Amino acid sequence: MVDWDRLTRRLTTDGNVVAFTGAGLSAESGLDTFRGEGGVWDRRDPSEVATPGAFRRDPDRVWQFYQKRRRSVRGAEPSAAHRILADWENRYGTPRVVTQNVDDLHERAGQNRVLHVHGRLMVDRCVDCGERSTGRLQPRLPTCSGCGGRLRPDVVWFGEPLDVDVLERARRWLRDADLLLVVGTSLRVSPVSEFPAFASQNGARVVEVNPEPGQHDWNRVMDDVFKGEAGKFFERWAVHVGED
Ligand code: OAD
Repeated sequence: MVDWDRLTRRLTTDGNVVAFTGAGLSAESGLDTFRGEGGVWDRRDPSEVATPGAFRRDPDRVWQFYQKRRRSVRGAEPSAAHRILADWENRYGTPRVVTQNVDDLHERAGQNRVLHVHGRLMVDRCVDCGERSTGRLQPRLPTCSGCGGRLRPDVVWFGEPLDVDVLERARRWLRDADLLLVVGTSLRVSPVSEFPAFASQNGARVVEVNPEPGQHDWNRVMDDVFKGEAGKFFERWAVHVGED
């Protein structure tokens, strides 16, 4: 059972809250999750579109795949959960967000402190010089205006390491957190699947929010579980915060 009063105290008084979010949160904005029936990786083999080798073999195909996802994100709006998180951050200075999501829905909801541990879909990066620029919506694979190299979406592909600086900052936020909300993730992708255990070891209370919780081996680190959708969790909590 979730202790709403306890969560509310952490949020509104002396707490340091971090929301660790995954595709389940953006599902409430109409974007597909990755795993399970109808998920992105159920319909496409990631080795064909989400690895450095796939991009070397067939860059146009990879570019088209991400163009489609970019268009979906462009057409989506932040959900109630995105908006409540952003509203609280602006009001109470917490939660900060560590997200696996590559979309920009947290930012568009008004969230200021967001770390994208799996990169950002709406940003391009030159494979040669590393220069980043606003993600293009165009059918043909673009080239870098500086060096002429190919551009790719600035997301982390299978087989690639995470950005060291982003990972380091995320770990710092998790180490300092006294409440970690694990929202809408299957916790199947390493190394970030270890974040809840890391936060727990460093003293955080860990709450899982998922309509199908426990799809992973990290149950022992969850202090509380809310079995339900992210929107329901935050809307219910917001009622308690409003009464505080
Ligand atoms: P998954 O697709 O693996 O898991 C989505 C989770 O969201 C599942 O546990 C669902 O039960 C849950 N869920 C669905 N609807 C929900 C809702 N309304 N509210 C709350 N939870 C809900 O997505 P991730 O765990 O985010 O990597 O996937 C991790 C990484 O795998 C992604 O970042 C991506 C992918 O390969 C990269 O892009 C590098």
